[in-house]
Amino acid sequence: MHLLDRLRASDGQAALTAAGELPDGDPLAAAAALRRRGVPPELAAAALTQVDLRRRAAAKFGADAARMFFTRTGLEQATRGVVAARRASRLAASGATLVADLGCGIGADALAFARAGLRVRAAESDPLTAAVAAANAAALGLAVDVVSGDAMEMPLDGCDAVFCDPARRSATGRRVFDPAAYAPPWTFVAGLPDRVPRTVLKVAPGLDDALVPRGAEAELVSVDGAVVEAALWCGPLAEVPRRASVRRAGAWSELTGTGLARAPVGPVRRFVYDPDGAVVRAHLVAEFATGVGGTLADPAIAYVYADAVRPTPFARCFEVLDALPFSVKRLRAVLRARGVGRVTIAKRGSAVDVERLRASLRLAGDGSATVVLTRVAGAPTALLCAPA
Ligand SMILES: C[S@@+](CC[C@H](N)C(=O)[O-])C[C@H]1O[C@@H](n2cnc3c(N)ncnc32)[C@H](O)[C@@H]1O
Repeated sequence: MHLLDRLRASDGQAALTAAGELPDGDPLAAAAALRRRGVPPELAAAALTQVDLRRRAAAKFGADAARMFFTRTGLEQATRGVVAARRASRLAASGATLVADLGCGIGADALAFARAGLRVRAAESDPLTAAVAAANAAALGLAVDVVSGDAMEMPLDGCDAVFCDPARRSATGRRVFDPAAYAPPWTFVAGLPDRVPRTVLKVAPGLDDALVPRGAEAELVSVDGAVVEAALWCGPLAEVPRRASVRRAGAWSELTGTGLARAPVGPVRRFVYDPDGAVVRAHLVAEFATGVGGTLADPAIAYVYADAVRPTPFARCFEVLDALPFSVKRLRAVLRARGVGRVTIAKRGSAVDVERLRASLRLAGDGSATVVLTRVAGAPTALLCAPA
């Protein structure tokens, strides 16, 4: 019996419970404690690994993590639960009924599709990962038909939607950037919308515009300030050319547009907004600037300046206390005069090495400030800022 099956059987469940009750610390002591309770060494090691992965997975899957099974790479590659759930409800709302998940990994997206009421046919080429996906569906009481095999061979008849999140890592775990090296390869992935028009593709957040199928919507997704993925909504699923979906403090907000608009350019003003990475990568800075009545200070740099603060989920905002042509000496003098000992440094459009700059400022004092390094009309500039 494979270790995964043993973990799912009653003695495995008991081992998982016992492992979960041990303090999170010395793995050798934990293995010894399980063996003293009569758990065979192999099962003890597997239970401890699962408990460790479940603890890590809680950040992605919340309470579900405690019932799920993981492989290390499967967890790393998995879509976080809130992102998968949002995608699944949009796909379900499109009228799709049967979705094929081609390369389902440990099943994060497949599970979300099932939870959203879709029927799911999933394929996974790695047999253990496929077994983990099936075990996760069973553990969460969801119906997912998982096939262990090559997604490129899977018939799509009857499927009115397709989802594909190709692996972007080599066999040794290194990230791959060449789409030809994705698994399944991009040549296969890019052909999916022709076979099933309602296709959604998950791709790396460093979106390469050349990969966006004609007419598809490119959605950039961020969670708590970090851009986590891009999704390409093809065929009838495309609603707008570009969308930034931003999750902050547990709530989603969306900005949409063409991705082609240019924001007006003006001087440095009293407030500076630092747009969320999803907004920047979706090329929606102009739309964002319109929303806050802002302008850029350099046409190529995504800081947006405005005379007033408007609450927005799409950016952090700072009040500009001082703007000076960038020089370490000048910046040091200004910060010292204000008694600033702790400085947060943000930058766009500046090649300055932040840590070297911090060291060379040799600051002392109780005050704190944010320094924004950027360019204003092409000139390297330091903005001394406070949170707005
Ligand atoms: C990025 S992961 C999918 C993660 C999944 N969306 C999730 O959130 O859990 C891609 C998966 O595709 C699988 N894969 C790669 N090539 C495949 C192929 N030709 N057929 C089936 N699965 C494949 C890999 O083994 C990997 O588990």
